[in-house]
Amino acid sequence: EKGGYEHFMLKEIFEQPKSVHDTMRGRLLVDEGIIKMAGIWDHIERFKNANRIIIIACGTSWHAGLIGEYLIEEYARIPVEVEYASEFRYRNPIITDKDVVIAISQSGETADTMAALKLAKEKGAFIYGICNVVDSSIARITDAGSYTHAGPEIGVASTKAFTAQLTILTLIAFKLGKHNGNLGNADFMSLIAELDAIPKKIEDVLSSTHELVQNIAKDFVTATNFLYLGRGYNYPAALEGALKLKEISYIHAEGYPAAEMKHGPIALIDENMPIVIIAPKKGHYDKIVSNVQEIKARKGKIIAVVNKGDTQVSEMADYVIEIPETSECFSPIVASVPLQLLAYYIAVYRGANVDQPRNLAKSVTVE
Ligand code: M6R
Repeated sequence: EKGGYEHFMLKEIFEQPKSVHDTMRGRLLVDEGIIKMAGIWDHIERFKNANRIIIIACGTSWHAGLIGEYLIEEYARIPVEVEYASEFRYRNPIITDKDVVIAISQSGETADTMAALKLAKEKGAFIYGICNVVDSSIARITDAGSYTHAGPEIGVASTKAFTAQLTILTLIAFKLGKHNGNLGNADFMSLIAELDAIPKKIEDVLSSTHELVQNIAKDFVTATNFLYLGRGYNYPAALEGALKLKEISYIHAEGYPAAEMKHGPIALIDENMPIVIIAPKKGHYDKIVSNVQEIKARKGKIIAVVNKGDTQVSEMADYVIEIPETSECFSPIVASVPLQLLAYYIAVYRGANVDQPRNLAKSVTVE
């Protein structure tokens, strides 16, 4: 059932060209220039009149939510807040019937997310679900929603569900933006054509980086700390990269917006600190270059995720992982793939139980 792979996690990482494609199937109609999503369309007035969108989730799904915030604010210009379900539910949040709440959950069973939704529903918000498991509790309590259709995810570390969540959030942002006029037709058309090509780009990344990342992982088996840095859309991708590493390899890792480094974490940097930096060409590249210079000056070990043909960051990096160029909004989908592989191989070389890390469960049904 692992399809010849040693672990479910690796199988699921390699399924991503297909799972992202499945998430778009029947929704993204490039030739006709439309995004079809009944859940959104049937309630378009709720979205159109929304004061704001509140995204609620935990863990990896919360990271997807953060990227959703960038997407929806950029393309649909609707204010978005992203909340940890566990914080939201206990802080007497201000919710009105003009709010749209989007819950993101792979399992659809996460107790805190479920409780936060019940609260939002009681206060009259319209609640929308992005779940992977069909007919799960969250899918059932929501007013409408879109399944991610990533297929069963068995590995406790979420991989393909994450990229599927990003795909759905991208579709929602583009659909709302097109509808409310914030995303012009020409831009919409070129963005959806690019989105359609993302599964192929994931496939390319998998084949071009698999062996390389495996070799990089060997050099970090005894590391005790890691920093992950990114800016813009890739700041949440850095958080997600760090979470993957810590949950399966038990190496302490932190994700940070690259510019926040100088507000504290830079004090940690010396020749023993590995730093993964996500630095694609589109997305504050020049700013990232100066962040990398600061790390270099302190002798940090730099693992850079850059676009093919990159020179500036690559010259300073100790390890270079190349990914194809995309619009900034798609880069977390593509950049996450080698980071999943990096976490996976470091954990495997440390002899960890990758599919079932200690102390963790696939669905967190208790708070
Ligand atoms: O099923 P959910 O998406 O609601 O789960 C949320 C988190 O428990 C989950 O993403 C967790 O952080 C994963 N182990 C991350 O890989």
